[in-house]
Amino acid sequence: MLPSLALILLMTAVWSYRNAMGAANHAYDRSLTTAIRAIAENIHVSDGRILADIPYSAMDLIDEGVQERIYYAILGPDGVTLTGYEDLMLPEGLDPERGVPLMVDAHFREHDVRMGILEKRLYAPELPGGDTVTILFAETTEARTQLALRLFLDSLMWQILLVAVVVVILVFALSRTFHPLLALRESIRQRGTEDLTPVPVNEVPTEVRPLIDAINSHMSRLAQMLQTRRRFLADAAHQIRTPLAVLGTQAEYGGRQSDPEEMRRTFASMLDSIRGTRHMANQMLILARAEQASDPLQERAALDIAELARDVAGDFAALALEKRIELAFEAPGAPLRLNGNATMLREMISNVVDNALRYTPAGGHVTLSATRLRTRAVLRVTDDGPGIPVAERDKVFQRFYRILGSGDSEGSGLGLCIVQEIGKTHGGTVHLGDGPGGRGLSVEIILPIEDLWLEYTRRANRTSD
Ligand SMILES: Nc1ncnc2c1ncn2[C@@H]1O[C@H](COP(=O)(O)OP(=O)(O)O)[C@@H](O)[C@H]1O
Ligand SMILES: [Mg+2]
Repeated sequence: MLPSLALILLMTAVWSYRNAMGAANHAYDRSLTTAIRAIAENIHVSDGRILADIPYSAMDLIDEGVQERIYYAILGPDGVTLTGYEDLMLPEGLDPERGVPLMVDAHFREHDVRMGILEKRLYAPELPGGDTVTILFAETTEARTQLALRLFLDSLMWQILLVAVVVVILVFALSRTFHPLLALRESIRQRGTEDLTPVPVNEVPTEVRPLIDAINSHMSRLAQMLQTRRRFLADAAHQIRTPLAVLGTQAEYGGRQSDPEEMRRTFASMLDSIRGTRHMANQMLILARAEQASDPLQERAALDIAELARDVAGDFAALALEKRIELAFEAPGAPLRLNGNATMLREMISNVVDNALRYTPAGGHVTLSATRLRTRAVLRVTDDGPGIPVAERDKVFQRFYRILGSGDSEGSGLGLCIVQEIGKTHGGTVHLGDGPGGRGLSVEIILPIEDLWLEYTRRANRTSD
């Protein structure tokens, strides 16, 4: 701000110096005019000769103690000096109007001078070579310069004063405006790392309030996320600790046995516990990845979700056979293309099919179908097992939530949570409902389709906009 103010000040200073010079010239040119006219009046012709008396009044240009030097010359019609300073010449390139004094700045004998020029006609036809004389009258410019300087300094002083006042007002106003912001900065700097409480809005200027509101809402989302993470970590630690404790007990028990058969059995159940814990750890890892959209494993590609579902059904065929459950796969045959992460989507479908096979008793039926509903792909897994009571249908999506007495020990309570998370990152939704005929469970995953035709119409719409 200060450099630009200085520039403005410089510009107005130049301008006011020119103004002051103009005003001084205007004042002094008057007496110069008077003097030159007085000389002109005293030129006359007698006996064919031009005679000039220089009146004393014309030389009386003493001003306030400053003694100006005065030079004059009267030039005859032929341009030859009749009287006065011979070296005082008419400046070149000037064409004064006859009878009107012309004032110019000039230089004479190392002095800056102000020169008045007047052409006068003498009306004397007897003169050879014309009857027009030119009067040159020059005066040094000391008094003018002094007056101009005085005027200039005066106005400069006022300008500087004005700028100073403006600067003081600005600094005051700015510091008043910024003071709350600086205080806010200080209080935010001194916050603890974990402190995500909202910034007080009432202490900041109204203009920045929307900004603070936005920051506050971001912080509250952050706080919520942190809270979720913390709870997850605590739950996870708890969930891992339990099977490890069981494993410890089993190992201790096994160590005390001398019967090899009993030891073998203990090892078998230890293996079960290890498998369960490993499954749990895997599920945690998958969930963490599903939540993190920036994970490189989340990279997407065009894929056919119907084919992916068929693959998953194939993977589970052996398990279904072993559990004597009839596993069926249904798809219309046409591909269901979408842009997604194959690994994640496979994980999502597997979890649902795994649940259906796990919780449906032997002799049951599980069906996986992949169909298209306008611009969406619908993946549905139905079974005729025990189902999930309506009251529990929201809760089973929570982390580590398992319905007690489901009868299966190898579970983490993370499966449906993973399904929901992966569905969400692919723009989809997950719904639980009754199975066919009101028995069992139906899990429906709806994902937006990204096929060529859709892409084509979207582009067409975009270009027509
Ligand atoms: N097909 C199903 N039939 C009956 N209950 C189910 C079914 N799928 C899930 N559940 C219930 O929902 C709970 C949560 O499922 P999930 O999140 O996959 O965790 P997990 O399978 O590890 O227990 C399960 O404990 C189970 O009680
Ligand atoms: Mg499960």
